[in-house]
Amino acid sequence: MSAAESKNLDPKAPPPPAPPPDLLRGKAALVTGAGSGLGRGIAEGLARAGARVALVDIDLEALGETGAAIARTAGADACLAVKADVTDETQVAGAFRQAVDAFGGLDLCVPAAGIAPAFPLVDFPVGPWRQALEINLTGYFLAAREAARVMIRQGRGGSIILVASKSGLEASKANSAYNATKAGEIHLARGWALELGPAGIRVNAVAPGNVFKGSKIWNEEYIKTCARKRGIRPEEVIPYYVGLTALGLEIQPEDVANVVAWLASDFARTITGQVIVCDAGQVCVR
Ligand SMILES: NC(=O)c1ccc[n+]([C@@H]2O[C@H](COP(=O)([O-])OP(=O)(O)OC[C@H]3O[C@@H](n4cnc5c(N)ncnc54)[C@H](O)[C@@H]3O)[C@@H](O)[C@H]2O)c1
Repeated sequence: MSAAESKNLDPKAPPPPAPPPDLLRGKAALVTGAGSGLGRGIAEGLARAGARVALVDIDLEALGETGAAIARTAGADACLAVKADVTDETQVAGAFRQAVDAFGGLDLCVPAAGIAPAFPLVDFPVGPWRQALEINLTGYFLAAREAARVMIRQGRGGSIILVASKSGLEASKANSAYNATKAGEIHLARGWALELGPAGIRVNAVAPGNVFKGSKIWNEEYIKTCARKRGIRPEEVIPYYVGLTALGLEIQPEDVANVVAWLASDFARTITGQVIVCDAGQVCVR
């Protein structure tokens, strides 16, 4: 597919639909990494679907921007911003406590705070490697553990949805920490689904394809690294990746938010221990 045929370059391409406004009415959610990119998009989508959302991120200023966006579409009561480092167990526990205090409980948890330090194996410094494991694995573990504790205590079930990646299914070149941690998240969801099923808690993963809009992972340096990897110019990177999808469609944060909102709803009540791939058909066409 040529770059011109891909819908991301088509200014008339329709935006993703908004979720039904009552889909998650009465539900309380907590989203990590809510200050940017997919975490922000998912938090906004859940709020548009009627949920109240605790926004967790290490970046307070970014959280303010997400909170303001949600206040505009769903009202100021729809969210609560909590600054916390997802790798710090005390801070994570504190964030959940604040969410439960504010909303009277918790029904949905979406760990999304993640990083993607990209280096070839022989050049990979151990610092960024360890940081990726801490944020992408320990951070997801701490959030899921806290969510499970709250949900079991409440006795009304719940849903935990881990934001993994298609790179957890099909390895990206020169991206081993990301590949390993995203595959790890998918397998964590499967094991936790077995453990938490008896309590009525569903645990699933979503595996988005590349989502450029609003993402700080897709910063200028990362795009340059991808361009070098593929032997193309930086401005060709987005069309290149869109061209790898069967649909030739640029995935928006709202697309992933819609999948998460549906998966969190009772329409998906039989789904647990699964990975829902939302990549516009990239992994399947290989
Ligand atoms: N953008 C993509 O193409 C893509 C595709 C598939 C999956 N994902 C996944 O989506 C998630 C978000 O990716 P993104 O591209 O939107 O990234 P992003 O960098 O735009 O957002 C990540 C957010 O996580 C926060 N964060 C980082 N470390 C933290 C910590 N220790 N504690 C609390 N918050 C922390 C950052 O401040 C930032 O707001 C990641 O888990 C990523 O693997 C992204």
